[in-house]
Amino acid sequence: MENLQVAIVGGTGNLGSALAVRLGAPGVRVIIGSRDEQKARTVVETLKPKMRAGELEGTTNRQAVKDADFVVVAVPYEGHAQMVQDLKGQVAGKIIIDAVVPLKKLRPFVPPAGSALQEAQQILGDEAPAVGALHNISAVDLGDVESSLGDVLVCGDNPEAKEKVMDIIRRIGARAFDAGPAYNAYVIEGLTGVIIYLNRKYKSKHGSVKITGIE
Ligand SMILES: NC(=O)c1ccc[n+]([C@@H]2O[C@H](COP(=O)([O-])OP(=O)(O)OC[C@H]3O[C@@H](n4cnc5c(N)ncnc54)[C@H](OP(=O)(O)O)[C@@H]3O)[C@@H](O)[C@H]2O)c1
Repeated sequence: MENLQVAIVGGTGNLGSALAVRLGAPGVRVIIGSRDEQKARTVVETLKPKMRAGELEGTTNRQAVKDADFVVVAVPYEGHAQMVQDLKGQVAGKIIIDAVVPLKKLRPFVPPAGSALQEAQQILGDEAPAVGALHNISAVDLGDVESSLGDVLVCGDNPEAKEKVMDIIRRIGARAFDAGPAYNAYVIEGLTGVIIYLNRKYKSKHGSVKITGIE
């Protein structure tokens, strides 16, 4: 993973910051993107003490994706379509990892495209494959390299891209499962709404999913 470069757009948030720390452990170079370059740099300074390895940089979303092999979309659903639209034209040859969950007041809903993932792929067309992943992971556990992680359900319509994303996920310490084509994404995205409810109900920050019966 030494030469791997991952950009996280919306990387200053809970999920993006936690993922940056995890990706650093196996030596990935991570570029945190933000709408505000200074904010990205400030977040990077706060994360650096938590990094055991890897390299971390902060810049604008647009600049972050420039040399990346993978681009993680980690913004709230309200900004999703616009963010993917902004990426279009910048991401040929890269793989998009979409972790976005359509939520309104913490309640999941199905967007017009069928899911956030399908929305992203519709916008991007053939420019880059979009793979859905990390929706059900706890950002709190992700940001603590000592914590064990829930399983990650990975979906999308490009098998090679999915395999590459599953490989990264395994290297950051989670089990990854091929959870099917992009039409399954609405289930995986929506499950996060249930996990949010469970976390509130049982006063936890660690809710996640575990697949049993499959090695
Ligand atoms: N937190 C979790 O545990 C978790 C787990 C799985 C999946 N997710 C999903 O991952 C995504 C990110 O979650 P999060 O908790 O990290 O979100 P967040 O902290 O609320 O936001 C992430 C970042 O997105 C940027 N942003 C906010 N509104 C935006 C907009 N309208 N347009 C463009 N950028 C915007 C902000 O960065 P700048 O101000 O720096 O641009 C913000 O720091 C969400 O879709 C969430 O459903 C979250």
